[in-house]
Amino acid sequence: MTENPFTICILYDAWHELEEEAPELPPESPKRGRKRREKSDREEITEALTKRGHTVIEHCLDGRRRSLKALAGIEADLVFNLTESYGGDDTKDLNIAAYLDLLHLPYTGSGPSGLLLAQDKAVAKRLFTFHGLRTPHFATVYQGRLQWSDDIHFPVIVKPKREDGSIGIEFSAVVGSIKELMERIDALHADLDSPVLIEEYIEGRELYVSVLGNETPTALPVVELDLSDLPVGTPRIAGTEVKWERGTDAYRKTKLRIPENLSEEMLAEIQETAVTAYRALEIRDYARADVRLTADGKIYLLEVNPNPWLHSTAEFALAAKQAGRDYGSLIEEIVDLAVSRYRGRTLTARPD
Ligand SMILES: Nc1ncnc2c1ncn2[C@@H]1O[C@H](COP(=O)(O)OP(=O)(O)OP(=O)(O)O)[C@@H](O)[C@H]1O
Ligand SMILES: [Mg+2]
Repeated sequence: MTENPFTICILYDAWHELEEEAPELPPESPKRGRKRREKSDREEITEALTKRGHTVIEHCLDGRRRSLKALAGIEADLVFNLTESYGGDDTKDLNIAAYLDLLHLPYTGSGPSGLLLAQDKAVAKRLFTFHGLRTPHFATVYQGRLQWSDDIHFPVIVKPKREDGSIGIEFSAVVGSIKELMERIDALHADLDSPVLIEEYIEGRELYVSVLGNETPTALPVVELDLSDLPVGTPRIAGTEVKWERGTDAYRKTKLRIPENLSEEMLAEIQETAVTAYRALEIRDYARADVRLTADGKIYLLEVNPNPWLHSTAEFALAAKQAGRDYGSLIEEIVDLAVSRYRGRTLTARPD
């Protein structure tokens, strides 16, 4: 039991037209789960907070205006923000954070600026470079116009500039010729109408670094996604197939683990890279950096994910567990971090 129980509103998004016909999918986002589970992250968080004596209410933003209006009337000390999109648009998570700010509702995780800086991968990469961090060389194009290009070399990976969950990143995203590149850009423009990021492909290990904190952000132990058992001939990437295509070899044969054969110095350098990136993007409370490590020991930062997936089996909770935190303590820590940021202002002081 916590000494300081709150009323906490778990805020999540759902935008699944077939939700009622497909109840087995977690309503917050069909793309989230790696496999069918008994409990969603939302249920796990509710359980963890309730056990600690908090009162938990839930609110769903379903893309309709009335769900926004109802949020304005919520009486809660803190919003636990699990939203990733609004009305199916993944770029609108920052609008939700901005709306919570306008409502004077304190919430967990990053604010609109952190969400914006992290979401636009080209902007994030420029910030990484400014802070001396290595990130793959890149170009951006939109509707046939070149926005920016480094001097890049094949092979490259073609991905949406502002998406997550590996949307638009299939194995075919890694290309080695101009023809394939053109086809891939065209396909992404057609599917997503999004600016396209073309990045040099970095062959290497896939590492995730979770970071927790505000004044002194701390990196948790590094977690690796072992891609070595992917079918022969497929690029070693955590693309759509690996993340969402249940039942395939790509999905089943990729496992999260604590990496072996990495020196303390290397692990420390990777963690430091993640913390620098976290600060550079003005992220709050918690995030996960995605990193590639080459055979010759070069660390490449791909991106930082604010408000990463908090399921007990996901990268973040796994890293926390490795650091000796059980799931309930991790969730409480996120609450404490958020509450501390608002300290000095009355948590419930909202204009009517
Ligand atoms: N430049 C690169 N070199 C090698 N692999 C890459 C590169 N960019 C992306 N990948 C692979 O593709 C995966 C997804 O890329 P990225 O993290 O940019 O997409 P995302 O959609 O934001 O993913 P998520 O939000 O799920 O973390 C990476 O985890 C990595 O395996
Ligand atoms: Mg990623």
